[in-house]
Amino acid sequence: MAWTGLFDPRRMTVRRMNFRFPDGLRGLWNPARPEFSHIVNAGSLAMPYLEPYLIETMRQARAKTDDPTLIAEIDLYIGQEAAHFRQHQRFNKRLAELGYASVPQTEAVLKADYQRFARERSFAFNLAYAEGFEAMALAIGHMLIEDREYLFGDGDPAVASLILWHFVEEIEHKCATYDVFKALDGRYHARIRGLLHATIHIMARARLGYRALMIEDGLWSDWRSRLALYGLLLRIFARLTPRLLRILVPGYDPRQVPDPDWAVAWWRQHGEADLGQLDMARIADPVPVAA
Ligand SMILES: [Fe+2]
Ligand SMILES: [Fe+2]
Repeated sequence: MAWTGLFDPRRMTVRRMNFRFPDGLRGLWNPARPEFSHIVNAGSLAMPYLEPYLIETMRQARAKTDDPTLIAEIDLYIGQEAAHFRQHQRFNKRLAELGYASVPQTEAVLKADYQRFARERSFAFNLAYAEGFEAMALAIGHMLIEDREYLFGDGDPAVASLILWHFVEEIEHKCATYDVFKALDGRYHARIRGLLHATIHIMARARLGYRALMIEDGLWSDWRSRLALYGLLLRIFARLTPRLLRILVPGYDPRQVPDPDWAVAWWRQHGEADLGQLDMARIADPVPVAA
């Protein structure tokens, strides 16, 4: 099947980052948004299991194509995802060292899930999951950048920088799994099933993770915190839902989704400014500013 997506490999860069988490890092790294802190922490716990699974799926896809442009795209994608989960591993280790007993428990669930998918599910399932996850991650990246001041404004700069860097690169590689899916499968119903599988699975596991962390911090039984959590989820899904619905359209292509100016400015500045440490006082600026 010939699919000649207009991919320009120069769009993507594999970057070596080294986020400097402070000695006094806390699980509630954004004291103004404790519930968001644990939603992010739960998402971070998934990355060292989810991203190696995506990489393995794309390695299998690489063996099924001889299109040099697609191979270049896959290699850059794998390079970025490998950098992501290594940074999350460092952050997750710090979370575990803070004494959260649920961290290794949640990690064990995620590890078993992705091992099972890789071992027991078909390549077609795993490829569709990968594309579903990436389409959702693109939507999440746009939401996080749009709402960055509210979500991260009072947070620890290293954690905010880690998450925003990760999603800036998710936006940067928005076409990779889509192009691979188009080349090797392309069926609409398979793409939609992959989106549903990935979205439902990752959201259920995120809830498992943040619920356990909130219990450990005494927040889950605190009605004010529960109200804040539901308010926050409403805010997040108000921004996310239209972006997720767009993915359901049969002719959806991530190229139709314009890149946020803030992300484009991040790419342009990288290497000149140390964006591994954002200036949180200027997080609302139209361009990212290094500390
Ligand atoms: Fe990633
Ligand atoms: Fe990704």
